[in-house]
Amino acid sequence: MKKTKEQVFEKIPQHIAIIMDGNGRWAKARLLPRMAGHRAGAENLRRIVTACTDFGVKYLTIFAFSTENWKRPADEVNGLMDIFVDFLDKEIPKLHAQGVQIRHIGSRKELNSNLKMKLQNGIEITRGNDRLVLTLAINYGGRDEIVHAVQEIVKQGVPADAIDELTIKEHLYTVDLPDPDLVIRTSGELRTSNFLLWQSAYSEWLFTETYWPDFNKESLKKAILDYGTRSRRFGGRTKKEEEEAYNG
Ligand code: FPP
Repeated sequence: MKKTKEQVFEKIPQHIAIIMDGNGRWAKARLLPRMAGHRAGAENLRRIVTACTDFGVKYLTIFAFSTENWKRPADEVNGLMDIFVDFLDKEIPKLHAQGVQIRHIGSRKELNSNLKMKLQNGIEITRGNDRLVLTLAINYGGRDEIVHAVQEIVKQGVPADAIDELTIKEHLYTVDLPDPDLVIRTSGELRTSNFLLWQSAYSEWLFTETYWPDFNKESLKKAILDYGTRSRRFGGRTKKEEEEAYNG
């Protein structure tokens, strides 16, 4: 079969997760208000979703708002919530037409009713799509997720010795998602910031200096190519290493 222009990768991560950092610094460098950076970040998310569908990535999970982001000034928090609502309003029909399924991870309790409604609406409309699963982490924290999972397990009366890794996994917000193969953090910060703590145990990480609004399709392509050079052992050894050890 003839390869299309996009089919250039040896190995494509099935699931990419992104910490979209650097909107504020992107805006500051242009003497713009922080919210302009967040708006540019939302526009970029739209482009990266399309790039993922072009490249054949099946799951994209993005960190939009952490359980700690409530500590930011009220104006910024409210502005971000408005951006999420606008994004869902404008983009759901287009994402649906593109075959994107929308999901949410995090606690919805603290979100305003309008955002909760738009999220629910987006999830329901796009439920049957399977080209790309776009998971929005809004009011998400890895520690909060694990606490929530433990609470659910205790509520269900599961005996202590019946609890194993699968029990925990099945009670995380990400129950239906595979673990991320590649986690990308933009803007030069070298931290996990409470993102997918359980799920990223064996993910490959890629840190780039680029601010999120400038992280474009070419940057994503480079990240996927870099991923293709990694040898994933999950704590064991690769087949090649086993053979080399066997052959002395
Ligand atoms: C971190 O940059 C970014 C955020 C806390 C918000 C991320 C939100 C978006 C990219 C908007 C798009 C999302 C959706 C779901 C439409 P920062 O403000 O901490 O940047 P800084 O470290 O340079 O100040």
